[in-house]
Amino acid sequence: MTVPLFRPSITEAEIEEVVACLRSGWLTTGPRVKEFETSFAALVGAEHALAVNSCTAALHLAVEALGLRAGQGVLVPTFTFAATAEVVRYQGGVPLLVDCDPATLNMDLADAARKLDELRAGRLPLTRDLDVVGIIPVHVAGLMMDPAAVRSFAEQHGLWVVEDAAHALPAAYREGPDRPWRRCGEDTARVSCFSFYANKTITTGEGGMAVTSDPKLADRMRQMSLHGLSHDAWDRYMANGAWDYRIVAPGFKYNMTDIAAAIGKHQLQRAEELRRQRETLAGRYCDALGEVPQVELPARPPDRIHAWHLFPIRLRLELLRADRNRFIEELTRRGVGCSVHWRPLHLHPYYEETFHWRPEHFPVATAQWQRVISLPLFPGMRDDELDYVVRTVRELCDEFSAEEK
Ligand SMILES: Cc1ncc(COP(=O)(O)O)c(C=O)c1O
Repeated sequence: MTVPLFRPSITEAEIEEVVACLRSGWLTTGPRVKEFETSFAALVGAEHALAVNSCTAALHLAVEALGLRAGQGVLVPTFTFAATAEVVRYQGGVPLLVDCDPATLNMDLADAARKLDELRAGRLPLTRDLDVVGIIPVHVAGLMMDPAAVRSFAEQHGLWVVEDAAHALPAAYREGPDRPWRRCGEDTARVSCFSFYANKTITTGEGGMAVTSDPKLADRMRQMSLHGLSHDAWDRYMANGAWDYRIVAPGFKYNMTDIAAAIGKHQLQRAEELRRQRETLAGRYCDALGEVPQVELPARPPDRIHAWHLFPIRLRLELLRADRNRFIEELTRRGVGCSVHWRPLHLHPYYEETFHWRPEHFPVATAQWQRVISLPLFPGMRDDELDYVVRTVRELCDEFSAEEK
């Protein structure tokens, strides 16, 4: 048997809407994008939503709109995907990398404070008077960081917050059992950025969304997403592709197409149903692997609604005679699709060579990434597929067990 890491869930509704879009003659940004933005804003409880062609584009527009300039610093977790830090580089900024919390793998705010202290004390390989202006928390696998804690940290240090919510649709948190749920994107950061890449919780093939409650940021991001066109030009472009326009800034080409929005519109309607399916599958994994001593399961705090984009287990390497790579090799050989999220940024040549980060700067991420494996998790995953993954993981734990039989 083979089980893929991921299979997208596409219904006839998405297919028919794409065909209708093609037949309509309007393929690029138009009425379907508008509708998608309005429904998205309503779903996450945001005032403004801007649909773009990737989460990377959304993150870039966000830091640009917040005024990030060359030479300024931004706190970014080392345990994340390339996009979170590279958008800082696009603006000429410096990602000040932060270690992760071993319980959740999200950014560790205590380490963020430590990194700022070490920076000022001249103990980091960065200039000590770096002007640190922002922080970009990432909700790893769809488990939200506590936005209230991030906000209070940011206020204390005079930073803006842009949320990398690539994995976190839909997700929510509450501050205690008697407190109301707050959705990711419901004013949980100055700008929250979501991804609709092919394997994300909802997809448009490629795509992303930036949401904010700040009308000025929303305007600037919209303008910069389409070549820095003036607002009236944007409106005319949407209406009839007018020939005259005014460029008011050197913008980017980040707009979403109506073809993508045609898929997104129907995915969005199913977002909560798809999340529930992933939650049920994650629960079944936890029940089935809970007793396996060599496996540490992902955290499931009761005050979070988890988006379950990924199901990352961690191997207890001290109980195994194989390392993570050998374990993956064998999972793959037996037909189980898996991946690693992620090699931390400080262990990539670009960040090592440009900023001289060393593994000792991030002891937690350096150790944790050698233990992580993301197992298959996707809506529509069949019982026999999940059972096969569980059986294979158990078999390998048994075969590689460090205990004498
Ligand atoms: C944490 C994180 N941020 C940002 C991105 C970028 O998303 P996109 O591919 O939509 O640009 C990803 C993509 O995998 C991601 O995992």
